[in-house]
Amino acid sequence: MKQIGLGLLGLGTVGTGLCKLVMENKELIEKRMGISLELKKALVRDLNRERILSQGQLTTDPNEILKDPSIQIVVEVMGGVEPAKTYITEALKAGKAVVTANKELIAKEGHELLTLATEVGQDLYFEASVAGGIPIIRTLKESLIGNRITGIFGIINGTTNYILTKMSQEGSSLESALAAAQRKGYAEADPSSDVEGWDAAYKLAILASIAFGSRVEIDKVHVEGICKIEPEDLKYSQELGYTLKLLAIGKNSPEGIQVRVHPTLIPQQHPLATVSGVYNAVFLEDDSFGELMFYGRGAGELPTGSAVLSDVIACGRDLVLGKAGSLNCTCFEERPVLPMDDVQCKYYVRLVVDDRPGVLAKIADCFGSNGVSLAQVIQKGYEEPVDLVFVSHRVQEGQMKKALAQIEALPFVHKVANLIRVEGEEQFGTAAR
Ligand code: NAP
Ligand code: HSE
Repeated sequence: MKQIGLGLLGLGTVGTGLCKLVMENKELIEKRMGISLELKKALVRDLNRERILSQGQLTTDPNEILKDPSIQIVVEVMGGVEPAKTYITEALKAGKAVVTANKELIAKEGHELLTLATEVGQDLYFEASVAGGIPIIRTLKESLIGNRITGIFGIINGTTNYILTKMSQEGSSLESALAAAQRKGYAEADPSSDVEGWDAAYKLAILASIAFGSRVEIDKVHVEGICKIEPEDLKYSQELGYTLKLLAIGKNSPEGIQVRVHPTLIPQQHPLATVSGVYNAVFLEDDSFGELMFYGRGAGELPTGSAVLSDVIACGRDLVLGKAGSLNCTCFEERPVLPMDDVQCKYYVRLVVDDRPGVLAKIADCFGSNGVSLAQVIQKGYEEPVDLVFVSHRVQEGQMKKALAQIEALPFVHKVANLIRVEGEEQFGTAAR
């Protein structure tokens, strides 16, 4: 039985989940893998809080983990770029395998860290950084390594999916739904990363880099969060047969890669439309398997702890077999990321306008003169100003933006209240649309 010492950098939601699973499943892991995981020490800020580990196993000094020869695997579950990056670098250089749940760090600094891990012949695994308990990274890196993935459609932020579900099903406000997500341990330390779309963007950059074999820089990802979504948009989109989700979308075509995170309308019959609450899902497309969907809890103590545990066991197995460092960076080419103006979509547009004769005609003229063809038009409300809702046919985003700039300048238009992209109708739409 190989004894493997674990040191944790952080013992909050995810760290505690990992400890619980290591304690509960110790015997099972020993029987299945022939390795015995020993929880040695955890780095924290506050030594006085009650924890799952004993007082003697807690420290505020990272060197007690990074320089301890009885620790072979360091698990970084503290979050943020620094000091996490420095600690991981030191752990790798000290000959330790590293597991992290830190999507921000991997999205921003993953290339440098993975290169270092390969140089020093150590594992750097990060399964929990994307989609909580769903084992999507190892699936892409191993099971689907011979496939040409063409599309990724992900609900990969549990907090915003929980918020949108509560807003549409219970009429909750964004603020009260966010507070509930924070109480349940789903949200990031700074929840603006969730609601503004950055958490999903970090995860998409990681997924797209692996799926398309080309490193996607985080500043190339187009990011829009859910802050602009109003109850009207949820109501009208439901009436139009759509469900609103914060989708992370990656597409790979001969021209280049699209990587974007934004509120998206999908047909109510699309499998992703049924993914509610804190659940995440990753929907993949390619020319051989067609469509695959992975579904599970995207955040929380035990689901995320389970993904971290899978990496810890993979590191343990690599240590035993002497193949550490063999599955680090999988990017093999550099593909261009296409600008948003080149993206082609259908769009939902909500305008707030005066209710007067000729208004609709002038707005339709702006759409038409910019090549935007309309599929549906609905007026909502009787008291001025009223909502005018349009759904377009597929059009280039640059043309839609030009039309909206002209429309916004019309004297009877109060505002362009929202522009939401429509996706997923090719496979799961109705013939009428
Ligand atoms: P958390 O509950 O806030 O826990 C963070 C832990 O790190 C705490 O124990 C904290 O110590 C410790 N810590 C933070 N900064 C430190 C520092 N400078 N020095 C020493 N200790 C420090 O966070 P979490 O929710 O577990 O998330 C951890 C990581 O997992 C993040 O990268 C997050 O993005 C990722 N993740 C989280 C989830 C989720 O569902 N929560 C899911 C997937 C991935 P104290 O306890 O003393 O404050
Ligand atoms: N804050 C993240 C979420 C945690 O809500 O999905 C999982 O990464």
